[in-house]
Amino acid sequence: MKNKDLNDYYNMARNILEDFYMVCDDKPYWICTPEKFGTSIGLGGAGQAKTIEANYNALHQYHLKMRVIKTHHEPEMSISIFGKTITSPVMGAALSGVKYSLNNVISEETFYWGLLKGAKDSGSIGMVGNSPACPDELGVTIVGENEGWGIPIFKPHSQERLIQLFQLADELDVVAIGVDLDGAGSMFWAESENQLYRKSEKELQELVDCTEKPVIFKGIMSVEDAVNVVDSGASACYVSNHGGRVLDCGQGVAEVLPDIAKEVSGKILIMADGAVRTGFDVLKVLALGADVVLMGRPLAMMSVVGGDVAVKMYLEYVKQDIIRAMTLTGCDNLNDASMNILARYE
Ligand SMILES: Cc1cc2nc3c(=O)[nH]c(=O)nc-3n(C[C@H](O)[C@H](O)[C@H](O)COP(=O)(O)O)c2cc1C
Repeated sequence: MKNKDLNDYYNMARNILEDFYMVCDDKPYWICTPEKFGTSIGLGGAGQAKTIEANYNALHQYHLKMRVIKTHHEPEMSISIFGKTITSPVMGAALSGVKYSLNNVISEETFYWGLLKGAKDSGSIGMVGNSPACPDELGVTIVGENEGWGIPIFKPHSQERLIQLFQLADELDVVAIGVDLDGAGSMFWAESENQLYRKSEKELQELVDCTEKPVIFKGIMSVEDAVNVVDSGASACYVSNHGGRVLDCGQGVAEVLPDIAKEVSGKILIMADGAVRTGFDVLKVLALGADVVLMGRPLAMMSVVGGDVAVKMYLEYVKQDIIRAMTLTGCDNLNDASMNILARYE
């Protein structure tokens, strides 16, 4: 029997996730399922899924400028992040919630393993999220079992609870620890007994101060919040709107990223995600100001149908396209990925 390729995995995921899945305008990668009045949003978004659309549309307003007359140079794209070297500036975004979002097809534990091991085997780092259907400790424990190679992103619980979880992450010697601040608007958590909270500037500082590990604050969509993240002493500002799953009618990531980068670039590591599907998309997000680009839905689909093998395969495919994209836009290294390689069309 032939080994499965990405097309096989992709078709399997579409079949398994059938009711959880709707594509926009027949574009196979553009998942845009709106809220379904109380039932799970699956892989879709909050409300009318307008923020998902905004992510796609904002990113695709930018086109790559082709430049091929230059001495040849193999693109250099490995980077050092939190003291670890990864082979490309791409990482797996925090994912969770097989029960509510992925048709309950595998266990949450198996899902996390696919994400973490697949990323590790491709020379990258994966993240795991925090679902109300499972103990808060599940993701971080599996990161620990993966020799600490991964990043748990916790929900914005009470300070007391978050500090406990940060201490556990410290003990398990994870690469870094994060909080998705925009999780305060999670509809899955709203239906659970656990309350989530918005966090003040003082609370962010307290979280950074309670650990030796690098801290990431995720869900940053404005210059003001990005400045607060820098002031908190955090190690990374993660520009994201949760893939459009929390605030509908919001701005697209590619819309806000250039202004945020202008203000905080060089002061803090900038991570970004939202509608990134290929290596060409990755290069655009780097050019818009991110240092590291993350992917959510494609890796979620790969992990449920093919585990670490499919996750690794997807990340390798993305890497090949980044090399191609850098070669054809005259980029020798990641510093060359600036606004100069982009053209914008309204
Ligand atoms: C099924 C699913 C589950 C998610 N779970 C989490 C989570 O537990 N924690 C978190 O910070 N983000 C979570 N996210 C958001 C992703 O980390 C990421 O921000 C988003 O998927 C990026 O957009 P993309 O899917 O268009 O790549 C989830 C996204 C999806 C699709």
